[in-house]
Amino acid sequence: MCGIIGYCGPKPAAPILIEGLKRLEYRGYDSAGICVGNNGELNVVKRKGKLQVLDAAVPADFPGWYGIGHTRWATHGEVNDTNAHPHIDRSGRIAIVHNGIIENYSALREKLEQDGHAFRTETDSEVIAYLLSTLYEGDLEQAVKQTCRILKGTYGIVAMHQEEPDLLIGARNGSPLVLGIGDKEMLLGSDVTALIAHTKQVVYIEDGEVVRVTPTSYRTTDLGDRQIDKRVDTISWELEEIEKDEFRHFMEKEIFEQPESIKRAMQGRVDHEHATAHLGGLNMSNRELLEIERVKLVAAGTSYHAGMVVSYLMESLARIPCNAELASELRYRNPIVERNTIYFVISQSGETADTLYAMRELQRKGARVLGICNVVGATIPRESDGGVYIHSGPEIAVASTKAFTSQLTALYLFTLLIARMRDMSYEQGLNFIEALDSIPALTRSVLDRHAEVEALAAKYCRAEDFLFLGRGINYPVALEGALKLKEISYIHAEGYSAAEIKHGPIALINESTPSLFIVPDDGLREKVISNMKEVKARKGPVIALAVEGDRDVAAIADDVFYVPKAGELVYPFAMMIPLQLFAYYCALQLGRDVDQPRNLAKSVTVE
Ligand code: F6R
Repeated sequence: MCGIIGYCGPKPAAPILIEGLKRLEYRGYDSAGICVGNNGELNVVKRKGKLQVLDAAVPADFPGWYGIGHTRWATHGEVNDTNAHPHIDRSGRIAIVHNGIIENYSALREKLEQDGHAFRTETDSEVIAYLLSTLYEGDLEQAVKQTCRILKGTYGIVAMHQEEPDLLIGARNGSPLVLGIGDKEMLLGSDVTALIAHTKQVVYIEDGEVVRVTPTSYRTTDLGDRQIDKRVDTISWELEEIEKDEFRHFMEKEIFEQPESIKRAMQGRVDHEHATAHLGGLNMSNRELLEIERVKLVAAGTSYHAGMVVSYLMESLARIPCNAELASELRYRNPIVERNTIYFVISQSGETADTLYAMRELQRKGARVLGICNVVGATIPRESDGGVYIHSGPEIAVASTKAFTSQLTALYLFTLLIARMRDMSYEQGLNFIEALDSIPALTRSVLDRHAEVEALAAKYCRAEDFLFLGRGINYPVALEGALKLKEISYIHAEGYSAAEIKHGPIALINESTPSLFIVPDDGLREKVISNMKEVKARKGPVIALAVEGDRDVAAIADDVFYVPKAGELVYPFAMMIPLQLFAYYCALQLGRDVDQPRNLAKSVTVE
């Protein structure tokens, strides 16, 4: 989604803004721009397309020490230079960048047009610049506050004025905004990756807050001018973590990081002595945990698939009814919140609008909602009633990979904790921990065989349609495999329960539609093998992910990728890795933009 950067300090602003925008590229965008203030004038450059186009258009000598920049992911109005941010008011004195959606922009625009303002763009954001210009009476901060009182919808805004040099005003309602405190310089960003090259000291701006920023000071107030004292947080990520190192793409790097990221998600949380897990951030006593009668996992996209996997695990190990729900659906169906039900919202970014709003709706109804998040300090972990950080480190590629396996890890630990309070014996607990402990090495050994997956991708990447099929706890893995393939290679892929194909999708099978089956050696193996035969009987090419030494599968499938034998319940980890690699290598061979696939954004902050 859109990205924001703002700078004021002693250095030339333009290179810092461009560099900040480069760090935000991963969020997904289609145009970008900057505005720099210098000697009482504002200079704007904005371009459709990649940042290189903008960079080339910014003159080498582009003077000015305060400015704002933006990467736009179009919502209102087509992708072109004009609709790109920053937007300036008609007089050219005020410039703004905006993330979010202004819901009442049509009415505001109509009113402003009646008053003689001629708009230049098709965006909702431009009304902010025009409102500011009508309300400005020599104090940008006050004009921003008045404007915010009129706006309906979501926004993270940064504004600047040509006659108030070295001043940035930021405001937030529903779209993230972070202040970075540097040495005689300040930055504003829509996420910390934009700031981390300059400072690790940050202040998270909350909804309803306005921050007034100069190179050496900041002050946060609410819309009623009441001062708000803010805590300064220190970012724990290192700059190197958002660099690609020797990898070609962030996605490749993040796939290969999984043995370590899974370990980090487990670190300090496994209690071998009592065969259980410690998850301090839940903020729940053992008595409260014991009272849980139902668990609901709420999320979107890949995080939803992680939730689905865990719903199988939770019911099987802890014997607690558990289901995963799409956040976007849950929010609007007037969900029934029952006593003794605990909700987890799962979100890598912690900013996904669908998930955040579902969480707020559940909390409004009195539910206890816990977060499973990666980005420390994001809105979901701040607003949830407790939760678990997965500590994957920054996930930059748009396609989520390492966050998925770390979300599983955190929720597997929660399952262990709650299962051990119920029917799971000490012995069974130790066995489960042994299986958990094996995951990093298991995933590493699958990664070591990446060349085999690359060869499979070379063979099949020209197919136009794919089916991904699995059963039980590996059914959501099939869904996730299909999602990975379609989002980065643009090959049409559907995930199904292998049992379901006979109820419809089998009509799609022909010689050019490969089916990828997940066939672990679990209780459903025989059934999945029958489903494979049904596909082969209709001349469909079959690729199988099976367990080392499974000759029955090899006898049917055209190609097999073997994973090492493991505990039944940890196969989702072992099976996910080749599917991530398969999507990655297909996209690579098709020449796709792997890290920033078309139309997609990393952090989806609009509904
Ligand atoms: C797919 C992907 C998305 C996200 C979804 C939720 O690779 O990344 O489907 O999983 O947008 O995002 P988070 O987890 O940040 O809430």
